[in-house]
Amino acid sequence: ANSIRLAVVPGDGIGQEVVAEGLKVLAAALPADVALETAEYDLGARLYHRTGETLPDSVLDELRGKDAILLGAIGDPSVPSGVLERGLLLKLRFAFDHHVNLRPAKLGPGVASPLGPDAQIDFVVVREGTEGPYVGNGGTLRTGTPHEVATEVSLNTAFGIERVVRDAFARAQARPRKKLTLVHKNNVLVHAGHLWSRVFNQVAAEFPDVTTDYLHVDAATIFMVTQPERFDVIVTDNLFGDILTDLAAAIAGGIGLAASGNINPSGEFPSMFEPVHGSAPDIAGQGKADPTATILSVAMLLEHLGHTDAARAVEAAVDADLAERSSSGTRSTSEIGDAIAKRVAG
Ligand code: IPM
Ligand code: MN
Repeated sequence: ANSIRLAVVPGDGIGQEVVAEGLKVLAAALPADVALETAEYDLGARLYHRTGETLPDSVLDELRGKDAILLGAIGDPSVPSGVLERGLLLKLRFAFDHHVNLRPAKLGPGVASPLGPDAQIDFVVVREGTEGPYVGNGGTLRTGTPHEVATEVSLNTAFGIERVVRDAFARAQARPRKKLTLVHKNNVLVHAGHLWSRVFNQVAAEFPDVTTDYLHVDAATIFMVTQPERFDVIVTDNLFGDILTDLAAAIAGGIGLAASGNINPSGEFPSMFEPVHGSAPDIAGQGKADPTATILSVAMLLEHLGHTDAARAVEAAVDADLAERSSSGTRSTSEIGDAIAKRVAG
């Protein structure tokens, strides 16, 4: 398309600062004949305190008509835990059917991994985004008594598993190593786990050139630290994927570099791109946040919208910037954004 209608949701804390840098780089990367139309939505703690709302229906309706959403971070200590997370971030993921939550982990040039200088880290986690324990299926009984009961029932559908597993197989097939690892806990979570394994094995028959593997999630955390080269593409459920991708970010240079895309592959609804990190209230407003994760999320956004060359240009600029970081001293959020935007522009 020759125009992009982009919704921008900076959100809370450092979300404001990192999104500004992401937009700078996006503007620098877009081909001259592509018009960028941005609309900013002030969602998060401020709106909540002002109106009690997290995601007004009118905003949801407007977002539906966009080509993509760029989101900063959601969450603030002044709002009870879960209100903004469920009422805004997860509501967007569910409303727009973002069932493929894509989270690459790649050790960039010159980036120090806690696993040491020889660590080989280049994999992508395909985290299911609309099911599992995230659906809010549960409740409490006898609240406040010693006999209080709380349930959080994981929801897994054959339909939901199959579509994300199929997407992960296709991604594995498109990569040189063509390997897909299913991560679950089917020795304990026998109901959901066996459904995942069964569907995975059925879909595998359609991708005979993809090597498959299975790991329990606890073992997967060990291998991620001891043998990260073992992973190419991982497919897993919503909660396991949440946990594994923080670990993946940590080994690949830290949460300041980890990008993600909440993808609706059919294009029926806008996909949403966001750094994996949170709002970091402790450093908000000080120009200390690393905007790289957001900038890499912008590269994923460009790729998703078919602007492949622009996406590659952003990635290359980030790599060049990373390679020189040890000698570039401490830079502010906007200094890093400026440097990367300048490289992208040429
Ligand atoms: C993430 C975050 C979210 C999640 C929270 C903030 C709801 O941790 O994007 O990984 O659990 O998915
Ligand atoms: Mn998380």
